[in-house]
Amino acid sequence: MNYSNIIFEKEGNLAIVKINRPKALNALNSDTLKELDNVIDAIAQDDEVYVVVLTGEGKAFVAGADISEMKDLNPMDGRNFGMLGNKVFRKLENLGKPVIAAVNGFALGGGCELSMACDIRIASNKAKFGQPEAGLGITPGFGGTQRLARLVGEGMAKQLIYTGDIITSEEALRIGLVNKVVEPEVLLDEAKGMANKIAKNAPIAVKLCKAAINKGMQMDIDSALMYEAEVFGLCFSTEDQKEGMTAFVEKREKEFKNR
Ligand code: CAA
Repeated sequence: MNYSNIIFEKEGNLAIVKINRPKALNALNSDTLKELDNVIDAIAQDDEVYVVVLTGEGKAFVAGADISEMKDLNPMDGRNFGMLGNKVFRKLENLGKPVIAAVNGFALGGGCELSMACDIRIASNKAKFGQPEAGLGITPGFGGTQRLARLVGEGMAKQLIYTGDIITSEEALRIGLVNKVVEPEVLLDEAKGMANKIAKNAPIAVKLCKAAINKGMQMDIDSALMYEAEVFGLCFSTEDQKEGMTAFVEKREKEFKNR
């Protein structure tokens, strides 16, 4: 499929997805959200892709949902727009492959929310994070009220959302919103380096780790540990488990096959 607002490339076992509306600082309009939805489906079905890196073209990661598109929405259209964003971001969050956000610049509103739907966030030291929606007369609408509170805790999420403060990547690191901060020139290489490191592990095991963490975080501890035992057991049905443990015992390099 051809994309107008997204660049999709493959490098070995990595998929690199770039939001590509630099003139609007990669603001997410409906068309871009639908393209993102399509690209996630394509990646889900592509057995060659083990890990995804998501970034933005130009000086922004994503400066939010598209304000020009939202300005004149009626309540039902607003609800539908919010539901579209939530559907796409949830699909990304539940994708059976890890997604690393390489946050190259502004990650505001829907952009901060998009980064939070990824598994891991690596930020350039030029990146800026925030949920400025209340200053526009709206609430965060693509999961910000939920994922920010889960990531950084209720108190800090409330502070950021109520004030609309824009914070630096260093502050985002301090509060646990991002995993790592690097120089802009090395951002993509850092993200790809981490992605390749993950891609060297058994893809099915990594996928099940993601499912166990994501699902377990929504469960009580006993149910979550039971779920962990189930996915742990499932690993023993894979060729890669046999290969990983045999290679260890035979003191040789392992060769995973995603089977
Ligand atoms: N929607 C639509 N267009 C946007 C945009 C957005 N979220 N953010 C930036 N743009 C556009 C600007 O309108 C401008 O377009 P023109 O050149 O046609 O005028 C272009 O991108 C460049 O932007 P600026 O000239 O403003 O660039 P700057 O460097 O001076 O400022 C900025 C950068 C501080 C990020 C500023 O653009 C800004 O404040 N943007 C809006 C940020 C925001 O409020 N995001 C939250 C949106 S609401 C949301 O996301 C809801 C939700 O949860 C789902």
